[in-house]
Amino acid sequence: MSISTTPTDAADRVPEHEPTAHRGLLAWVREIARLTTPDRIVWCDGSEAEWHELTDGLVAAGTLVRLDPAKRPNSFWARTDPTDVARVEERTFICSADPADAGPTNNWVEPAEMKLTMTELYRGCMTGRTMYVVPFCMGPVDARAPMFGVELTDSPYVVASMRIMTRMGASVLAAMGDDAPFVRALHSVGAPLEPGAADVAWPCNDTKFISHFPETREIWSYGSGYGGNSLLGKKCYALRIASVMGRDEGWLAEHMLIMKLTSPQGVVRYVAGAFPSACGKTNLAMLEPTLPGWTVETVGDDIAWMRFGDDGRLWAVNPEYGLFGVAPGTDHRTNPNAMKTLAKGNSIFTNVARTDDGDVWWEGMGEPPAHLTDWHGDDWTPDSDGPSSHPNSRFCTPITQAPTLAAEYHDPRGVPIDAILFGGRRRTTVPLVSEARDWVHGVFLGATLSSETTAAATGKVGVVRRDPMAMLPFIGYHAGDYFAHWIDMEKRAGDAAKLPKVFYVNWFRRGDDGRFLWPGFGENSRVLAWIAGRLDGTAPAVETPVGMVPPPGALDLSGLDTDPADVELALRVDADEWRAELPGIAEWFATMGDKLPAVLATELDALRARLA
Ligand code: GDP
Ligand code: PGA
Ligand code: MN
Ligand code: MN
Repeated sequence: MSISTTPTDAADRVPEHEPTAHRGLLAWVREIARLTTPDRIVWCDGSEAEWHELTDGLVAAGTLVRLDPAKRPNSFWARTDPTDVARVEERTFICSADPADAGPTNNWVEPAEMKLTMTELYRGCMTGRTMYVVPFCMGPVDARAPMFGVELTDSPYVVASMRIMTRMGASVLAAMGDDAPFVRALHSVGAPLEPGAADVAWPCNDTKFISHFPETREIWSYGSGYGGNSLLGKKCYALRIASVMGRDEGWLAEHMLIMKLTSPQGVVRYVAGAFPSACGKTNLAMLEPTLPGWTVETVGDDIAWMRFGDDGRLWAVNPEYGLFGVAPGTDHRTNPNAMKTLAKGNSIFTNVARTDDGDVWWEGMGEPPAHLTDWHGDDWTPDSDGPSSHPNSRFCTPITQAPTLAAEYHDPRGVPIDAILFGGRRRTTVPLVSEARDWVHGVFLGATLSSETTAAATGKVGVVRRDPMAMLPFIGYHAGDYFAHWIDMEKRAGDAAKLPKVFYVNWFRRGDDGRFLWPGFGENSRVLAWIAGRLDGTAPAVETPVGMVPPPGALDLSGLDTDPADVELALRVDADEWRAELPGIAEWFATMGDKLPAVLATELDALRARLA
């Protein structure tokens, strides 16, 4: 890292240690330094030495605890403030010039008004702290048009996490040259330190704003250190801002895993899957198939950027460099490949429990130890009330450590997508798998996707809501325009368009007693095999009012110890349940006003007619 002198005397002239000649970047850094008045400015180079300096400092500050290097090399345990544990959707804003461009699914504030409000919050907010300049690139730096960003933050936890989650540092800054465009991403925990005041382990502010200015491609985040609110390359840039770029430029920025699926015959299929937060993307992306002969390799676990290639196919890139995964439920039985990834070290664990011998533990990892330090920092035993780990506790780890990483991950062209899965967490109604009849029907399935809320966002858990394409909290513009953009993809590639087939999955259907009807995890390979069969034209399907489903016997259940009656229940399309679903869909579509594409209204009418 290189350190500038104090901004009070440095901000108005050219400080000596600015490792770039990028005038736009320099001007912005100085402007923000004048506003936020940090004690010093550090330009991050992404080096090993910088990582050690950052993490040593975080350990000294009590933000991180070093785990036992014999068990978890170069890995750390973090506990947040108990109020700063998830994305804050009510405090997330799309500040488009025209409120109509934010649409019914986003909070909107006029951009100048939001900037006025936040400028006052930012004024002096880095007093007593360091402002880090974090140059990063979403996707490979050797892409034809690399997607740069720079985050200015006063949180060393954010810098360390950004080093895991993005390509970051001196090589990115060099690639930016002196005039590359970049997304300006400003972040502060909102906790200035007066001289002599003691810091806390997790500084944050009760006032939180996660604001996006889509026209100017800017992000202003204030008050939270939690990953989804503070690692601005992820949700803020790669989904909210990038979805607007995609609208303007004819591509898609989606909340999707990307996997490479290879059949026993060696046929390769690339599958993308959009499931809401904490609904199974990371697990599916790293799946260990139980069906013999199949392999799954990982390209991405959360975000896909998809553009048409000259061949008319939709090519997907994972813009991220790390995994920011839900910890609870992750285990050798459910996601052995995540466990192997984490065993290599170089990871940050946030809001999980710590064992007495310097390891981590969370619910779902088998029998709990007799004593733990829980995510609050308190003693925890199996008799304690409540879980030891926060339900949205996370591991942050390099994707390149995944034993399942596909070689194509590094290819700036990405991979050509054969199938898109939409999926949610539904106890009832939605069958284990169904196939859309065509592209528009597929868009309808995505646009009406519903799921129970999870701990990934603050608010009530388990409430069914519409979550279009699993993008409800991430669409950076009007959802009706977003649906139209999806439908138009069919025309965009012209006659040569070879669009993916669309499927709808639900791993979470339950029986009367609350048991999962489908075992999930590695057994989901059986569903993937059917999907691959549909792509090949070899697997049978039967028409139902909601789409094509596997007939009895079409799913390979050999060696599965689940009751076949449960599998049948998981696959069932119940017309009564679906009729009960219709008013909710109509209500949801009504919120789009005249921006609802007519073909989606037609799809709803057709579904109603098929169910009558
Ligand atoms: P993501 O946030 O969409 O990436 O979801 P994850 O893959 O991290 O999974 C979120 C939670 O759902 C974790 O607790 C997982 O153990 C659990 N989960 C993932 N896949 C399945 C599945 O196929 N069946 C069941 N029952 N649970 C699953
Ligand atoms: P997830 O990512 O989708 O893996 O939960 C974080 C989030 O969406 O908040
Ligand atoms: Mn996500
Ligand atoms: Mn995930």
